[in-house]
Amino acid sequence: SSSLADLDSSRLEIVSNTNPGTPPPSSSLKFGHTFTDHMLTIPWNVVSGWGTPRIQPYGPLALEPSCTVLHYAQTIFEGLKAYRQENGKVTLFRPDMNMKRMNTSAQRIALPTFNGEELLELIKKLIQIDKSWIPKEPGHSLYVRPTLIGTQKAVGVGPPNEALLFVILSPVGPYYPNGFKPVSLYGTTEYVRASPGGTGAFKLGVNYAPGILPQKQAADLGYAQNLWLHGPEHYLTEVGTMNLFVVFRDPSSGTLELVTPPLDGMILPGVTRNSVLSLARQHSTGEYTVAELPEKIKVSERPVTMAEVKEASENGTLVEMFGAGTAAVISPVDRIGYLGKDVLIPTGKDGMGPVSRAIWKELVGRQTGEIPSDWSVEI
Ligand code: COI
Repeated sequence: SSSLADLDSSRLEIVSNTNPGTPPPSSSLKFGHTFTDHMLTIPWNVVSGWGTPRIQPYGPLALEPSCTVLHYAQTIFEGLKAYRQENGKVTLFRPDMNMKRMNTSAQRIALPTFNGEELLELIKKLIQIDKSWIPKEPGHSLYVRPTLIGTQKAVGVGPPNEALLFVILSPVGPYYPNGFKPVSLYGTTEYVRASPGGTGAFKLGVNYAPGILPQKQAADLGYAQNLWLHGPEHYLTEVGTMNLFVVFRDPSSGTLELVTPPLDGMILPGVTRNSVLSLARQHSTGEYTVAELPEKIKVSERPVTMAEVKEASENGTLVEMFGAGTAAVISPVDRIGYLGKDVLIPTGKDGMGPVSRAIWKELVGRQTGEIPSDWSVEI
């Protein structure tokens, strides 16, 4: 209710440790395995609302075994990245999108919502304190992981009377262990990630754990990730760690079409997905020209089936396919295991196809700040 205190960055308390660390050599960075010196914690309770934000040394949380997150998965998270520029400036990429989405996720599972601008201020302070941890190598960044959990000490199912928001930071390189090379996907028809009316469009912890066994099974068959196919038509949805894009060449008109499945409630509304669509749409209207994309392109958010992809692969009208996500950035796909066979996807030289390469350059330029844009926010 409105009498509760909202999150207030001016109440920040800092308990810092002394020696700022630096990331390990990038060759030994495994995605999400290394954390910086500090974390941000903000408690919430139903009586007074958001409490004192605290930046303190990274370390274990004290949680009672009864608390609701441990039983009913009352947990949501976000992922965004901080980049260090040549001149030492540190920037975040479209962080307002993450703050908005986190509130949408919180509301979906009855966790408390908060003032996103205030959380962003606190995240900026945390990153400033640990900025020596931001890797400098191309393709590397500081992954920011805001998390919100229900901490009510009771095993009844209901909206929690206590919650904890925390933010941790991790220096990262490529998400997939094979680096920036194309990934293979296993078209999964025996499990579902999301269903109509379910939670697939929200960034909830509960969407991820059930995908681990299918992912292990896909890995045993030699594929990097699952491609979640929906319904008897085997609609492409997403990968779970990234949204999907397919590029076709229309055989009659000869034009390129960039397709991604629509946000139908089963697909995570990715910030990278939105950015790719926005760049491609600007290129298609002529509002902006994506350098290195020689032709106009039709941009479609529309359903796409495996039958369509398979047919295009066989008749030569499939141009490329790629995943897009904060962790994955732009990851080309080179094959999809489907009903016992591989559907082969064309890849360009050194992996990327013509559309993904051109968009990737524009996107990464804006992420790192090399291409100035209002998507890049200085901390
Ligand atoms: C991201 O891209 O940030 C994700 O959340 C994907 C994954 C690490 C769960």
